[in-house]
Amino acid sequence: MPRCPTGRNRMDMRSIPDDPALPALEALRSDRFGAAFPDLGLDEGSFELRLCGYTPGNRATIEAHGGDRHFAVKAYAKDPSAEALLYRALANAGLAGSSGVRVPRLLGWNRDLRLIVISWLAGRPVEQLIAEGEGRRAGTLAAAFLRKAASLSVTLGPRFDPGELLFDVGKWVGRLVATEPILGQAADNVVRRLLGAQPRDRHSRLVHGTLYARHILDLGDGPGVIDWQRFCQGPLELDAGTFLATVWRLGLRDDRLTNEVARAEEAFRSETRTLLNEQSLAWYQATTLLRHASKLFRPTEAERLLSREERAFALAEARGLVEEAGRLAGAIT
Ligand SMILES: Nc1ncnc2c1ncn2[C@@H]1O[C@H](COP(=O)(O)OP(=O)(O)OP(=O)(O)O)[C@@H](O)[C@H]1O
Ligand SMILES: [Mg+2]
Repeated sequence: MPRCPTGRNRMDMRSIPDDPALPALEALRSDRFGAAFPDLGLDEGSFELRLCGYTPGNRATIEAHGGDRHFAVKAYAKDPSAEALLYRALANAGLAGSSGVRVPRLLGWNRDLRLIVISWLAGRPVEQLIAEGEGRRAGTLAAAFLRKAASLSVTLGPRFDPGELLFDVGKWVGRLVATEPILGQAADNVVRRLLGAQPRDRHSRLVHGTLYARHILDLGDGPGVIDWQRFCQGPLELDAGTFLATVWRLGLRDDRLTNEVARAEEAFRSETRTLLNEQSLAWYQATTLLRHASKLFRPTEAERLLSREERAFALAEARGLVEEAGRLAGAIT
């Protein structure tokens, strides 16, 4: 989406959705946002706003850029205080500096408006690195983050339960069985196999929870890791498996990327080997792949698959995801 030019208005709201579930959006339209965050200097010149992510009724992310001020406004339907406190804790742990492994800095937070404001980290996401032939670097950046995460002692967040994750995946797969019986059955077989092989992770620590390739940015001298909404206390293998699954999917979607994906995976594995349990890693990877497959056929997604070609493409992708999940699950002893 192109940046919106700003006119005499300080902020051009044309790209910002009107969503009553997200009070921050209405506040941005009125003076309430500026009044709530006087330190952001909203009255000192114009801002360009860009909608970067939007899940209707749930959340929206907006980039705001004006002069040397650059930040993200994250608007939620539910109170984002936990996420705000996490950014603060990570800053206290030394992760909001200007070098090395970094996360955004918390610039402001308002419980009533259900929003947080965080600093903007400018860099290419890992998926772009892979598309541009820098797979090894992509893997190295993700590994640097994991190694840093392993050294932290931040105890915020709910305890992660792999059984709950698998239960959710099972529900999604149930829907898949209803819409695509053959594929659904294959996915269900993998779920059963995973059910009997649940990892008994020894260590729980702070994990990101959704370490997708797009949430890791190349900041030059280290990775920037964004979108901590789903953070929890869990095993490192959850983040590692999520990362490997999303990276593998890039190659499935575009076979020109297969080699770069392999380089990313190789670098990531060799630089994290001593931290991870292989069996547990395979379990989380397989579970994430199944999750991606069944999500393709959620009612909201299915509506988007308008043409026969789009549907055939999604089906082929889901088959590839389920097959790989089955291969990984089959190797767990
Ligand atoms: N602090 C930040 N620094 C740099 N880029 C950011 C930042 N916050 C968000 N972005 C950009 O906006 C996109 C969406 O942000 P985010 O992932 O936090 O929201 P989301 O609602 O979870 O979106 P999605 O569902 O696409 O993951 C990111 O993929 C990234 O490109
Ligand atoms: Mg996100």
